[in-house]
Amino acid sequence: MSWLNQPKIYSHEIHTHSLVEDAALAATLDRYPAELLDINAYSYDAEGQVSLETGERGRADGATLLEAIKAGQVWVNLRDAHEAHPELWRHIQPVFDEIADDLGVKPIKVTGQLILSSPQTKVPYHFDAAGVVLFHLRGTKRLWVYPTDEAHLPQESMEKVIMRVQAEELPYRLAFDGDAQVVDLQPGQALTWPLYAPHRVENQGVFNVSLSLDFQTWETRLTRGAHYANGVLRRWGLAPGAMDKTPMAARAGLWAASLAMKKANLAPNLIKDYQRSFALSDQVKPAA
Ligand SMILES: [Fe+2]
Repeated sequence: MSWLNQPKIYSHEIHTHSLVEDAALAATLDRYPAELLDINAYSYDAEGQVSLETGERGRADGATLLEAIKAGQVWVNLRDAHEAHPELWRHIQPVFDEIADDLGVKPIKVTGQLILSSPQTKVPYHFDAAGVVLFHLRGTKRLWVYPTDEAHLPQESMEKVIMRVQAEELPYRLAFDGDAQVVDLQPGQALTWPLYAPHRVENQGVFNVSLSLDFQTWETRLTRGAHYANGVLRRWGLAPGAMDKTPMAARAGLWAASLAMKKANLAPNLIKDYQRSFALSDQVKPAA
C-alpha cells in the first residue's frame, strides 16, 4: 500500500446538491438522532492554546440551531452520517471509492460526520487515528497540515490520544506553522493528507459545511493497536521502539496484545466521562 507524503486535493460535485442548502440542513438537524449530535464551543488564549466545552441543543429546533451556528462560535458534528444520513452518503460513497482506488488503499471500515461550523470557528492542532477525506460543501476553510515527525507528533502523545486518556490534543507551538502546508479549501474539493498528519483548521469568516470521512485499513488498524499497546507498556516503565521502525508483523503482535489489554480495561476511557457543560438553549435568544 502506498500512502501520501503530502496533502492531496480531489474534486467532487456534491456541493451542488440541494441537500447542503439551508432548508435541507435545518430538516436534517430536526430529525437527526440526539445521541449523534455533538455541539462544541472552543475558546483560545493568546498562545493559541485551546479549551473545549461541549453542550446540548436544549429545545432549539433545526432552523434555530442553524442560525445559532451561523451567529456563534459553535461547531456541530452530526456523527455516523454514513448510517444516519443515507441521502447524503449515497453521493459520498462513490466519490470516496474512486479516491481510495487512487490512494491504493483498501478500507475495512468507513465512517462519516457532517460538520456545520460558524464563520469564526477554529479547530485546534490535532491528529486523527484514521485515514481522513474531508469533503468540503459550503464556505471556505484554511487547513494547516504539519509533518508527521517526532517534533510535531511525539509518539508518546500519540499513544495517549489513542489510549483516550486525554482529549485529542497534541502539544502545539505557533512556530510549527512555518513547517505546515496551507490549503484554502473550497466547495467542490475533497482533501486528504498523510496518515496521522497533525492539522488545524480556521474557517475564513463564512459559515462552513463539510463531510469528514474517516477510514481504517488493516494497516491503520494494526498501527493504531500497536500505539495503544506501546502506551500501556510505557506506563509499565518499558520503552517502546519507534513506530516507523516497527515492521507490520510486529505491529500485528502489538495489536493483538492491545485487544487483550482493552479487555482487561488497562486504560479506561476517560473521554466517555467528559461532562456536557453548557446547553445551547442558554445561549440562543428566544425568537420574538
Ligand atoms: Fe481532524
